[in-house]
Amino acid sequence: MAAHLVAKTSEIAEDEAKKVIIGDQHVAVFNLGGEFYATDDICTHAYASLSEGYIEDGCVECPLHAGRFDIKTGKAQGVPVTEDIKTFPVRVDGDNVYVEI
Ligand code: FES
Repeated sequence: MAAHLVAKTSEIAEDEAKKVIIGDQHVAVFNLGGEFYATDDICTHAYASLSEGYIEDGCVECPLHAGRFDIKTGKAQGVPVTEDIKTFPVRVDGDNVYVEI
């Protein structure tokens, strides 16, 4: 596992996300109340970018069919999504945000 610099903290506003690509892994980096989290960016239902989804109550709603995932745990919150998304460790050092993959 290696740490990848993905953003400055100021780049991602609260309840917003940034998409990054690390190797062949598409990652969504979220700011939830000043804490940063990272998940797989691709929905497990079909092909949609979760970083373009709607963020509310710690969950991201997929922009395609409105499936919801818990951002901290990756847990699918019910139909149409049944398969969890991967999560990745995040480290903030000063104003740098790192994702470990
Ligand atoms: Fe995400 Fe269908 S592609 S809910």
